[in-house]
Amino acid sequence: MKQAIKFTIIAFLIFAVLICAFVWPLPGFIGLVILLVTLGFYDLFQKKHTILRNFPVIGHMRYLLEMIGPELHQYFVESGTDGKPIDKNHRTYIYERAKEQTQTHPFGTELNVDADDYKWMQHSIYPARKMETAPRVDIGGKDCQQPYSASLFNISAMSFGALSKNAVMALNMGAKAGDFFHDTGEGGISKYHLRGGDLVWEIGTGYFGCRASDGKFDAEKFKEKANWEQVKMIEIKISQGAKPGHGGVLPAAKNNEEIAEIRGIQPHIDIISPPGHSAFRNAEGLLQFVKQLRQLSNGKPVGFKLAVGSKQEFIEICKKIVETGIKPDFITVDGAEGGTGAAPIDFSNYVGMPWEDALIFVVDTLNEYNLKKK
Ligand SMILES: Cc1cc2nc3c(=O)[nH]c(=O)nc-3n(C[C@H](O)[C@H](O)[C@H](O)COP(=O)(O)O)c2cc1C
Repeated sequence: MKQAIKFTIIAFLIFAVLICAFVWPLPGFIGLVILLVTLGFYDLFQKKHTILRNFPVIGHMRYLLEMIGPELHQYFVESGTDGKPIDKNHRTYIYERAKEQTQTHPFGTELNVDADDYKWMQHSIYPARKMETAPRVDIGGKDCQQPYSASLFNISAMSFGALSKNAVMALNMGAKAGDFFHDTGEGGISKYHLRGGDLVWEIGTGYFGCRASDGKFDAEKFKEKANWEQVKMIEIKISQGAKPGHGGVLPAAKNNEEIAEIRGIQPHIDIISPPGHSAFRNAEGLLQFVKQLRQLSNGKPVGFKLAVGSKQEFIEICKKIVETGIKPDFITVDGAEGGTGAAPIDFSNYVGMPWEDALIFVVDTLNEYNLKKK
């Protein structure tokens, strides 16, 4: 948005100068010279940008080009298969499918099928018959009184605040239309989430929506919302791939009355989500917390989400599951490459295990402890 405003102002100034030069050539020229000389003096004496001090006026070209660089790259340089995290071909066919337009692509793949990391699926010579209904998975062990039948594809956690109210409403209405679930993210349940789609309520270290005045977990507040009809499952967020072990700050400027009410916090002050949970400090504590939340929600499925870091810590959780008999109903595995609303780039780039390795490790470890089928 800021970019667009800057761009419009610059375009307007250039346009105004050109018009002036065309309508009144001499005054227009003098006006232009005065403008450039004033800008030159400003550049020479300002202390914020070295480039402008060394190269008055002309130095602005660098910022101008830098500003429109992403657009130039995207429109003129980027190929259909470049572009991270989602390339242009995928973006295009997502838009086309959403609008129920063309869904096909002529002439075959553009991918390099000889590349080392090329992935492909095995088909059968005996294709299955078309299914009457989309496949689903039942979530909830024997301790669950309200198991949930989940779609295989769902909407991962993204809070209101990281996303706008329109985005949250659209996602929830999409979840209703497509019969899949919508994870609230750790920012609590807003009225925009309540559009009829199934919800998974995520509980992060800030306990937003079930938070006591000292920032700790409040069982009574949790119980009330966890028993809402639309909430189908509870997800304890241990960590997120893009910023594992980091926590977060909701800055006072963003903490308005509406967000504060949804999160159950005081408005207009900085709110810290600590890196770890205050409700537990070790594997057994985590499982006891799972058990507590399942009881408070009257038997809804309770699981946890993590990005794998120390393998030993995950092994420890599996050992404790066997020892205590308390089983989470699901485990969400995030990867270091996962998205975020905001994270320091060092965390996004260098902390946590990538998703494929993490999923293989988690599945192998669960199998080793005979837990996968449960
Ligand atoms: C804008 C945005 C906000 C997110 N907020 C949360 C969050 O509140 N809690 C969480 O556990 N993960 C959050 N995530 C991470 C996603 O839930 C997901 O784990 C990650 O993006 C990997 O999935 P993907 O490969 O489908 O993007 C967020 C991601 C994005 C892009």
